[in-house]
Amino acid sequence: MNQTLTPAEPRPTASLFALISRDLDEVERLLQQNLNNARPGVDSLLSHLAHYKGKRLRPALLLLVAQACGKIVPAHHLLAAVVEMIHTATLVHDDVLDHATVRRHVPTVNALWGNQASILLGDFLFTHAFHLSSTLGDVRACRIIGEATNRLCEGELQQICRRGQLDLCEDEYLDIVDAKTAELTACACKLGALYAGRSEEVIKRLTNYGRALGVAFQIADDLLDLIGEETLAGKSLGSDLEQQKLTLPLIHLLHHAPAEQRLRVRGILEAAGNHKREALLPELRASGALEYARQRAQAFAAEAVAELACLPPTEGRRVLELLAERVVHRDH
Ligand code: IPE
Ligand code: IPE
Ligand code: MG
Ligand code: MG
Repeated sequence: MNQTLTPAEPRPTASLFALISRDLDEVERLLQQNLNNARPGVDSLLSHLAHYKGKRLRPALLLLVAQACGKIVPAHHLLAAVVEMIHTATLVHDDVLDHATVRRHVPTVNALWGNQASILLGDFLFTHAFHLSSTLGDVRACRIIGEATNRLCEGELQQICRRGQLDLCEDEYLDIVDAKTAELTACACKLGALYAGRSEEVIKRLTNYGRALGVAFQIADDLLDLIGEETLAGKSLGSDLEQQKLTLPLIHLLHHAPAEQRLRVRGILEAAGNHKREALLPELRASGALEYARQRAQAFAAEAVAELACLPPTEGRRVLELLAERVVHRDH
C-alpha cells in the first residue's frame, strides 16, 4: 500500500469556509487549549494531533448553519470544537480497526504508538469532548451530543458485526452509514440551529440537511476507498475491501450480477491476499455499480439542499448548498 506522505493540500473546501474563517480559528484555539497536557508521553501523543488536521467539515457545518440562521455565538465555537474532538476520536479508533497506516497525510497514531495507545487516546478525546460540552452548563447540548455519540458507536458496532457477511443489503448499509457518519453531521447542524435560537421546525429541517449530507459524504468516501488515490486522500485506502466491509457499489454488484459473476466476485472477496481492489475494479466499473453509487450520493445531496428552503437566501445558505454538492465530487 502506498504510504507516501504529502504536505496537506490546499483544501478545495477552504474557499467555501471563507465566511467563517475567523470562527474556525477560534475553534482551533479551543482545540489546542483543551487538548493540552504536559505529562511525559501524553504530551507527545497530543502534539501529534497538532499535525493531524483534517477538513474540519463538522465544525464548519455547525458554524455555517449558525451563520445561515442569523448569528454565531460563543457556544457555537465551543460545540464546534466538541464535534471535531468526537470525530477525531472515532478516526483514531477506526484506524486501529482498519489497520490503517496513514491519516490526514501523516502516519496514524496506531502506526506510531500502537493499538493500545490509540485506543486510550481515542478515549481521551471522547472524554474531553463530553467534559468540554458540560462546561456550557446546558443539559440540552450534553443530551444531543450524548445521543449522537451513542448512535455513532452503535453504527461502528453494527459494521464490525456484519463484516465478512456478503449478504448485506442496501437498506442495512444505509442504516450503518446513517449511524456512523450522518448522525454526527446531523448533530452538528442541529446544534448550529438550536444555539442560533431558531424554531423547532427550522432545527428539524437543518438536522435533516446534516443527515442527508452525511450519507452523501460517506457514500462518496466509500467510492474513494475503491477508486481514490492515497496521496490525494491523505489516508490509507482499499481497507473496506481488505476488511470485507461491503459498501454500496459492491452491494449493488452482488445483488444484480448474474450468478456466475456473483460467484467470481465472492471468490475474490473471500480470497487471502490484498489485491482485491485491482481485481474488483473492472467488474465494478463495467457493471455500472460505481455510477449507481455516485447517483445515490447525488440524490442524498439533492435531498439535503431541498431542506435549506426553510432559510432566507443568504450567503450562508448558498455555501451550505455548495457544500452538499461538493461532498459528492471530491478526491479527499
Ligand atoms: C472521515 O471523515 C471519516 C468519514 C466519515 C468518511 P473526514 O473525511 O471528514 O475526515 P477528516 O476530518 O477530513 O480527516
Ligand atoms: C467512517 O468510515 C468512520 C467513522 C465514521 C468512524 P470509514 O472507515 O470509511 O472512514 P475512513 O475511510 O477510514 O476515513
Ligand atoms: Mg476506516
Ligand atoms: Mg472510508
